[in-house]
Order: sequence, then C-alpha cells, then structure tokens
Amino acid sequence: MVKQKEKLKQRIVATLRALGILGTAEGVKFALAWCRSRADNAAYAAENPAFARPPAYGMFEAYSYTSYRAYVASGDETAAFIEGLVRRHLSLSLPVVAEWGCGLGRIVKPLRQRTGWSVAGFDYNAASVAWCGRNIQGAAFLENGLYPPLPCADGAFDVLYCISVFTHLPEDLHMAWITEIARVLKPGGILIASFHSRNVADRLLDGEAAQFNAGNMVVRGNVRVGGRLFVAYHPSTFIKNRLLQGFEVLEVVENPVSSMTQTVYVARLSSPGPVDPQRK
Ligand SMILES: C[S@@+](CC[C@H](N)C(=O)[O-])C[C@H]1O[C@@H](n2cnc3c(N)ncnc32)[C@H](O)[C@@H]1O
Repeated sequence: MVKQKEKLKQRIVATLRALGILGTAEGVKFALAWCRSRADNAAYAAENPAFARPPAYGMFEAYSYTSYRAYVASGDETAAFIEGLVRRHLSLSLPVVAEWGCGLGRIVKPLRQRTGWSVAGFDYNAASVAWCGRNIQGAAFLENGLYPPLPCADGAFDVLYCISVFTHLPEDLHMAWITEIARVLKPGGILIASFHSRNVADRLLDGEAAQFNAGNMVVRGNVRVGGRLFVAYHPSTFIKNRLLQGFEVLEVVENPVSSMTQTVYVARLSSPGPVDPQRK
C-alpha cells in the first residue's frame, strides 16, 4: 500500500515535470509549508533572540521545509556525523575543511562551532552565499559557478564534504566536479559525499528502474540544474567504479542521521592530481 502510494506520487511528479509546471506546484507547497511553520518559527525566534533567521524561501529551496527548528536540529546532527567521520579517517587535529554546496550554512555553522576547524562554504547560489557571509561568523563563504572551478588553490583542503549536491546534478557535471574536488583536496585528503543510492527502488518508475539496475545514473530534469527539483539517482556501481575512480572508498553509511535517508561515501584521494574528466 505504502509502495503503491509512493509510485502514484512519483507518477504525478513526473507528469508535472513533463508539463513544465513542477515549479508552480512547488510554489503552492512552499506557501503551505510557510503557513505551517510560521507560529513555531516565531516562538523559536522569541526563545532564541540571537538566532540568525534564514530566509524562508531559501530554506525551502534547499531543504523543502521552512522550519527553524528543523534547520538547527538537522544541521547539528549532520555536523556531528561529519565530525565523527573526519576524526575516524584523518589523524589531523585541525583539518582544513570545505563544504561544496553549503546552502544556508546549516552544517558549516555547527561544525565550526563544535570543532573550531577552519571551514569554508561554497555554493553557486549567490543569495545563499551572501546570507551566510552576513550571518555566520568564523567561516569563509564563496560563490562558484554551476561548472567548476572553485575559487581556491590546488590542494587547499584536507576534507571536502558535499551533502545532497551530486543528487541535483546531471552526469557531465558529476565528472567535471569530481575532477575539481580532486584538484582542491590535498593528496590523501578525504571526500565525504551523499547520494540517492540505496532504498530508491520504490521511487523509480519502470524505465528508470531498468536503467538504474543496469548501473546507469537516473536523472530527472526539465527544471533548473542544481536546484532541489533536479534529481539524480546513483547506482553503487556508478559511484564506485566511475565517479570515485582515483579515490579509495573507506566507508559507506546508509541513512546516516535521522534527517537524511541518503547514502554517504567517505573516500580518500589516492592518486594525486585531477582525474580525467572524459573518462566513462
Ligand atoms: C539540497 S541543498 C543542500 C545544502 C547543504 N549541503 C545542506 O545539506 O544543508 C543543495 C545545495 O547545493 C547547491 N548547489 C547545486 N549545484 C551546485 C554547484 N554546481 N555548485 C555549488 N553549489 C551547488 C544548491 O545551491 C544548494 O545550496
């Protein structure tokens, strides 16, 4: 029954996407989410007068909710999870860390606060980067384009993490960005990246499931590339054998925190220098 409901939902979304009106439907969803969270957001802001309130539409665009409490709680638990992975796989006491696709600094802020590490956030959304720069102290925020490069030197970071970013990009951008990530990581540096990989069977429609099971990415577009509505699903063979060539996979974590059902890969850059973007 639950599976049937999910498939029906996916069919409706596919139809709206094909008609080019998914964005309009999302506008309605945003209005409903905003109404639902308004009273609790006001209460949260009153309880926490120093809290920098993220813009409602920016939150919805990145996270599909508009709740301050969800932004803070999910950011805290994800930052704790990232900290644990870094400590487990790197022996540095003060690693230099980047988040690519940092959105409204949901993770950067608590990660910086709990560790004191040097953390930089990058995003292609100029408004998010500007908001983070004005409202989050102790971290650098920089804008990049949809395509590489990141505005930083080769080998600038010990760790780069990206949560729910590859999940919104087409295949050519996966290859371009993994090459760029290899450039900005130090040799032996760590990549932490999340994917829609396991437990996606219920969401895939018939043709998509065949494509996925054959080891190919499934991409749902017809909306702005890099936005939340642009969705990519990643078979594990694609991640391990194609995307992460040149990296050694150290750990794979399913459903890492209560607020995220994606699969997280932790991988060490094993061959220094950029990876060939043309490889298939
Ligand atoms: C689902 S949100 C996740 C935000 C953040 N990682 C988090 O978990 O709180 C995806 C983010 O990736 C950003 N993004 C998408 N494509 C990007 C690109 N090519 N370069 C940088 N950021 C990108 C979006 O602007 C958005 O902020």
